[in-house]
Amino acid sequence: MAMMVIRVMLVLATFLLPFSVEGIVRHYKFNVGEWWKSDTEAIINEALKSGLAPNVSDAHTINGFSGLSQGCALQEEFTVKVQPGNTYLLRIINAALNDELFFKIAGHKLTVVEVDATYTKPFKTDTIVIAPGQTTNVLITTNHAAGKYLVAASPFMDAPIVVDNRTAMATLHYLGTLDSTITTLTSLPPKNATALATSFIDNLRSLNSEKYPARVPLKIDHNLLFTVSLGINPCPTCVNGSRVVAGINNVTFVMPKISLLQAHFFNVKGVFTDDFPGNPPVLYNFTGTQPTNFKTTKGTRVYRLAYNSTVQLVLQDTGMIAPENHPIHLHGFNFFVVGRGQGNFNSENDTKRFNLVDPVERNTVGVPAGGWTAIRFRADNPGMIFNSILLELRKSN
Ligand SMILES: *[C@@H]1O[C@H](CO)[C@@H](O)[C@H](O)[C@H]1NC(C)=O
Ligand SMILES: *[C@@H]1O[C@H](CO)[C@@H](O)[C@H](O)[C@H]1NC(C)=O
Ligand SMILES: *[C@@H]1O[C@H](CO)[C@@H](O)[C@H](O)[C@H]1NC(C)=O
Ligand SMILES: *[C@@H]1O[C@H](CO)[C@@H](O)[C@H](O)[C@H]1NC(C)=O
Ligand SMILES: *[C@@H]1O[C@H](CO)[C@@H](O)[C@H](O)[C@H]1NC(C)=O
Ligand SMILES: *[C@@H]1O[C@H](CO)[C@@H](O)[C@H](O)[C@H]1NC(C)=O
Ligand SMILES: *[C@@H]1O[C@H](CO)[C@@H](O)[C@H](O)[C@H]1NC(C)=O
Ligand SMILES: *[C@@H]1O[C@H](CO)[C@@H](O)[C@H](O)[C@H]1NC(C)=O
Repeated sequence: MAMMVIRVMLVLATFLLPFSVEGIVRHYKFNVGEWWKSDTEAIINEALKSGLAPNVSDAHTINGFSGLSQGCALQEEFTVKVQPGNTYLLRIINAALNDELFFKIAGHKLTVVEVDATYTKPFKTDTIVIAPGQTTNVLITTNHAAGKYLVAASPFMDAPIVVDNRTAMATLHYLGTLDSTITTLTSLPPKNATALATSFIDNLRSLNSEKYPARVPLKIDHNLLFTVSLGINPCPTCVNGSRVVAGINNVTFVMPKISLLQAHFFNVKGVFTDDFPGNPPVLYNFTGTQPTNFKTTKGTRVYRLAYNSTVQLVLQDTGMIAPENHPIHLHGFNFFVVGRGQGNFNSENDTKRFNLVDPVERNTVGVPAGGWTAIRFRADNPGMIFNSILLELRKSN
């Protein structure tokens, strides 16, 4: 019986990972989230009514627990029991609404093997960085004889924006360790540790093996540049007579009453227009001095792609109101992240530096504050695809 169990687990392990990893005994999920004292519906409704940014969360959580020393009366935390001398697969999911997070385990290296359900070239790190909507799978080896080790998640925010700066904590507990044992702690990076985040992101590469090739589009049919910005539109009923909105190429999305796919299929007029701009309508120094007019254009506009066409999309942050790291998700697609940089995208020089060999493949990517990210994909999943900014305020607008 014991043999059979072990065999099943090894088969599972080889199924999960394209290379042989002996001794993965089991996997654990770490669902990292944000928690508000108030009802989250009340938070978003308040923000929509006032036109201001929603309140930041009151705590970060790991599998629903904020962990010790958060000043909470109820001191509960998530504990993972492990045995010495094994390899464990940890699946880390950022289920937070707003915050990019650092994730770290005291005394253990994390070997990254997969992000957003695609294999990566394995690499070892102390700290991972994960944006809302992203998943990261790592292996850890329990190479201590005993002990309790802190598992922690804290925010990454390198823009001058208010963020929930609390650290969520859990514990890795070696079997046989006394409960009274002091937990080995670790220091977390400061919230503005941009260099650390950049180095982690730059280390992510597709596995690109014979069995799992990286099929990066080399010939591009649509070359798009989207600015990702905040803006301020008039709102007579709001606190300041204005509302903070998000815009892509200066368009703030208006949610239609009829589904876009339905309108397309039944040819219902007046639901959307076909004129989403493939490039910013006004060119300026996106990460430099901003125009004084922060207004955006409201609309339900789509950009049409022929089936099986190839797309290069550069997502450019701007300094409108403030530069900010925007997690972007393309619904229903994986894409390759072929480049990333600070400042304004320079099509002549930055394109030459793209990684078209083994770029990481994923479905959610962070656009760096005051920088840009370039993605490539093949339009082979027909439908009305949202390219959304994964922040609640932005979606609600
Ligand atoms: C948001 O924060 C403000 C200031 O702390 C507080 O007065 C307000 O009640 C909060 N809103 C909700 C819905 O909790
Ligand atoms: C977290 O933010 C609060 C309020 O903005 C601040 O008082 C506190 O010093 C910050 N803590 C850390 C560790 O940065
Ligand atoms: C990060 O923030 C700290 C404290 O606010 C500041 O002293 C430091 O210069 C900042 N580091 C960077 C790289 O901006
Ligand atoms: C909106 O009003 C608040 C409070 O009255 C103020 O602190 C803030 O600076 C105003 N923001 C804008 C963008 O006008
Ligand atoms: C854009 O603005 C940045 C920041 O102010 C500046 O460093 C850069 O030189 C500007 N670029 C151009 C082309 O003016
Ligand atoms: C965005 O659109 C608004 C409304 O049409 C316009 O006033 C503003 O100048 C535009 N801004 C940019 C940067 O294109
Ligand atoms: C999509 O395009 C690729 C590359 O040109 C081609 O190999 C493939 O057959 C096309 N697929 C379909 C379904 O048309
Ligand atoms: C690209 O880089 C070269 C060499 O540094 C420079 O001369 C050229 O002006 C750059 N091109 C653009 C469009 O910035």
